[in-house]
Amino acid sequence: MQDVTGRSFMNLLSAYGSPDLYFTEYFRVHSHARIDPSILSSITENISGRPVFAQLIGEDLEHMARFAKELQNFPIAGVDLNLGCPAPRVYRKNVGGGLLRDPQRINRVLGVLRESCDCPLTVKTRIGFEDAVHFPQILDIFSSNHVELVSLHARTVRGGYRAVPDYSFVKQAVDRLDCPVLLNGEVNTPSSAIDLISKTGAAGVMIGRSAIRNPWIFLQIKQLQQEREMFRPSMSDLNNYIKSLYNALYRDDISEEKQVARLKKFLNFVGLSVDQEGGFLYEMRRVKLRSELEKICEKYLLLKGKASQLMSLEPHAGLLARPSTEDSICQG
Ligand SMILES: Cc1cc2nc3c(=O)[nH]c(=O)nc-3n(C[C@H](O)[C@H](O)[C@H](O)COP(=O)(O)O)c2cc1C
Repeated sequence: MQDVTGRSFMNLLSAYGSPDLYFTEYFRVHSHARIDPSILSSITENISGRPVFAQLIGEDLEHMARFAKELQNFPIAGVDLNLGCPAPRVYRKNVGGGLLRDPQRINRVLGVLRESCDCPLTVKTRIGFEDAVHFPQILDIFSSNHVELVSLHARTVRGGYRAVPDYSFVKQAVDRLDCPVLLNGEVNTPSSAIDLISKTGAAGVMIGRSAIRNPWIFLQIKQLQQEREMFRPSMSDLNNYIKSLYNALYRDDISEEKQVARLKKFLNFVGLSVDQEGGFLYEMRRVKLRSELEKICEKYLLLKGKASQLMSLEPHAGLLARPSTEDSICQG
């Protein structure tokens, strides 16, 4: 996820239980663009041992081909095309989710990527732009370009991050495509992952925000699948995770205030599992220094018997309904 789940986060996740596959933040492709070294480091310095797909966003045929070829000089598992980004400044350029309005353009972009890739070609898509009227046609375009994996965020671009995902489209994709389909969108608990896989026939789930909120989620899903006891983190575990996040994100070339500001992007998601009233989120958003943040963590995660309480597996529903960070920070 753009500006959040880069190298530091991906490497930190390995300590909690890596997913089977990773996708990078998107590399923005246009005529002057060069490979972003920071995103590249999530491929070249990934310590998880898991495959990493390099995601591209763009529509310029020549430069999409150039990026795909250049990226194959690095240890990528494949090239992934972003057809889902709902940020207006992105889709207005007819890239990301904007391409879903023009199936023929998708066909041309996938055509040049297919020609340029000696590695797997995958797609991350939504079900459509305003509605899903082109969805069957777009699935057929994926098939005719021999796309090898489709991750489907079961909302339209207009649905942003708030519309209720319609997973019947995942089933439709599973039935129409020969390649594996990953179900994406509001997979927030290990049991819902298992349930949605069995209802739709998806090959697996892709998890975004809840992997930040609950980094144990991939481990928990595996434990449930193997009918083993599922690890339940306590609030004290959550507090330790926040400390590890701070250390993982630490850079000695930026001020403490900026350090804390970077951490807040993650805590906006973590906070959804803290208190139902949103006190942690409210107070956390107002701190500037690490010592202030530690006090808030102590108050909400450790003191008065909280340390041994179990962390909620679900995000607290009341907090999701409020205007949140996703509206302001999400570019993906
Ligand atoms: C801050 C943020 C950044 C994102 N960046 C990307 C991105 O670079 N590429 C992408 O395919 N999706 C991106 N997404 C979308 C997620 O991959 C995912 O489709 C979406 O959040 C729904 O899944 P979830 O409910 O598991 O979070 C981003 C989402 C968020 C909230």
